[in-house]
Amino acid sequence: MVLNYEIKTEKVNKSRLPEVDFTNIPFGRVFTDHMLVSDYINGEWQETNIMPFQELRLSPATTVLHYGQEIFEGLKAYRDAEGNAYLFRPHENFRRFNISADRMVMPQIPKEIFMDGLRELVTLDRGWIPDTEGGSLYIRPFMIATDDYVGIRPSNNYKFIIFCCPVNAYYAEPIKVKIEQEYVRAAKGGIGEAKTGGNYAASLYAASRAQKDGYQQVLWTDAAEHKWIQESGTMNVFFVIGDKVITPNLDGGILQGVTRDSVLRLLRDNEYKIEERPISVDEVVEAYHAGELKEVFGAGTAAVIAYISAIGHLEDDMVLPPVEEWEVANWLQKTMRGIKNFTVPDKYGWMIKA
Ligand code: COI
Repeated sequence: MVLNYEIKTEKVNKSRLPEVDFTNIPFGRVFTDHMLVSDYINGEWQETNIMPFQELRLSPATTVLHYGQEIFEGLKAYRDAEGNAYLFRPHENFRRFNISADRMVMPQIPKEIFMDGLRELVTLDRGWIPDTEGGSLYIRPFMIATDDYVGIRPSNNYKFIIFCCPVNAYYAEPIKVKIEQEYVRAAKGGIGEAKTGGNYAASLYAASRAQKDGYQQVLWTDAAEHKWIQESGTMNVFFVIGDKVITPNLDGGILQGVTRDSVLRLLRDNEYKIEERPISVDEVVEAYHAGELKEVFGAGTAAVIAYISAIGHLEDDMVLPPVEEWEVANWLQKTMRGIKNFTVPDKYGWMIKA
């Protein structure tokens, strides 16, 4: 039983860092030297351990492997000129993690484990934070149900883990997305707002069909009518129509993106006209044909600001103007990058020293 939240650290004997080519890192495939693990057993969080990155030993009967009781987060760390590690809005990820935990009937994680553990882990592995343009350390906290039990009920035991990967941009180039009007990511009353693996598993079939047709992602529509645009699975979406920037409102079915929130704050405070409201496929198609659809972009932790160069709808593609001409997305890209590399003042206090 935990009496205090002390974090024990066992360091690697030899770092793998010298073997890494930071100019050529595929997203999500290179892992830093250490990871953090904390177990929840009989209603109590146990001690937290930072240890060398390693494989897990699990029984084949482990609940998560069968019924998907799992949640996760994604956030990023950056390095300043002195080599100190900074986390971008980590309290938002902590808050959202516990909202997802509630929805998936999992225990709340204490701040002392999530936040203090995160800080210690990232400080220890700060040498892995790339200083390349657009590079960062992607951090993956997650929690899995670990009962050895083949049956449907919330697990009694859980494992909370954080590991990190140095990454470059998730989408290196502008992407093409396809409006999905047959398959569904999330329905009203479902788990669309939780950051849980099931939502991503549910997206794979439609995404792989879209990929066969030459698109990188789908643009999900609502489950009831396939009329209202939701999100793009890896990110929230924004449309610049005329002089307005429009994004679907949070309706319980889409992810409450931290990058989405940051984009809205930046735009609002810089006199852009923002509308957070339901936006229909018809409105986008009509705006396109009227020459009013100026920019479409995604916003997400991995994707940051992802330019959408074309939207597939029925048999046609709506092709956007060249991205060099985009005012809003280019300004956001520059401003977000500037805040993260300390060249633009961080007036919101988003960068938190690890
Ligand atoms: C994130 O942006 O953090 C995600 O979880 C999405 C995934 C594409 C990595």
